[in-house]
Amino acid sequence: MLSLSLQELQQHATPFYVYDLNLLRQTLQQAQQQAQRYNFQVHYALKANTNGPILDEMRQVGFGADCVSGNEVKRAIENGFSPQHVVFAGVGKSDAEINYALDQDIFCFNCESSHELIVLNELATAKGKTARIALRINPNVNANTHKYITTGLEENKFGINAWELPDVLALLKTLPNLALIGLHFHIGSQITDLSAFRNLCTRVNEFQEFFESHSVQLEHINVGGGLGVDYYNPEQQPIPDFEAYFALFNQFLELRPGQQVHFELGRALVAQSGSLISRVLYIKKGVTTNFAILDAGMTELIRPALYQSYHKIENLSSTAEEERYDVVGPICESSDCFGKAVALPETNRGDLIAIRTAGAYGEVMASSYNLRDKAAAIYIG
Ligand code: LLP
Repeated sequence: MLSLSLQELQQHATPFYVYDLNLLRQTLQQAQQQAQRYNFQVHYALKANTNGPILDEMRQVGFGADCVSGNEVKRAIENGFSPQHVVFAGVGKSDAEINYALDQDIFCFNCESSHELIVLNELATAKGKTARIALRINPNVNANTHKYITTGLEENKFGINAWELPDVLALLKTLPNLALIGLHFHIGSQITDLSAFRNLCTRVNEFQEFFESHSVQLEHINVGGGLGVDYYNPEQQPIPDFEAYFALFNQFLELRPGQQVHFELGRALVAQSGSLISRVLYIKKGVTTNFAILDAGMTELIRPALYQSYHKIENLSSTAEEERYDVVGPICESSDCFGKAVALPETNRGDLIAIRTAGAYGEVMASSYNLRDKAAAIYIG
């Protein structure tokens, strides 16, 4: 059960997101401690959660920022991240976004196509600057995760495919305002089978040989993010196994002297620290189970509707005998359902419901569909 005080939670108008800053700090400390054993550098993937107090913790523990839009770059820099620790990825960076990031002299652009390289070179030339770049390579490694969050297969839109690399290297020779400093990979998200990362390491080692054979020296290898969390057991597994994760890369990556390894973790750092808190509006009789209709819906947490993903649901107000409920939101879509036939203690109007593990890709993916108000964020700890 969510370990935050019910009394405290009851004071706020629902729905709202609650963040447990103590758990967040413990998570970040463990991640940083394990990364530092190998001198690995973590860039927090802002896309998971861009709230100021969350970013403060990320920055204070010493992480850089991994951004996928001009506004994320701006948010990171305004929050106090040094531009030297900001990377900017994405398949579709607009000219305005690139120009903003060039003006900020960010650490690195992770580039995803030949066409993007040409445009970036043009824009950098116009400013009399040299842009540091990493090539995002599509390693064709299966992450064994949901197809919508698989990114490292040849069928996906992300990255430069292996067979294009000779042409890309030839192209780079003609683009004087780009400096190639690294390689970038990201195979997907919510990866719980670590063997996918081992396969990634094998591919990275092969790409390293290719670049070495072309006399290209690379300062860093960025292996992306993707480490999953335990949505089923947030209590037993509040902090992912960072020790095993970083040890795997240390064991299997074959680095060149002086080469840095960068990571872009999002979900693993922040997911378990956040919950969506909602109240039961109505109980309605259904055919096989009853419906518990909440005041939160897919507008506050779209993951179940979009990826059929599981989030643990708890009734914080009741300890009565369990019954089965379809837990749904108020939005005019049948996909607005947090869980089917969920066992909950007998549930009544006004009960407080926690939907767990909502700290990553919850609030950031909220929408105003049905002209819904934006839910507040509460920080405890
Ligand atoms: N780096 C790149 C290039 C990425 O595309 C992503 C996530 C990350 C890092 C961070 O991945 P993480 O460590 O959080 O797995 N909305 C989906 C997840 C989309 C992930 C997109 N890219 C969800 O709710 O499951």
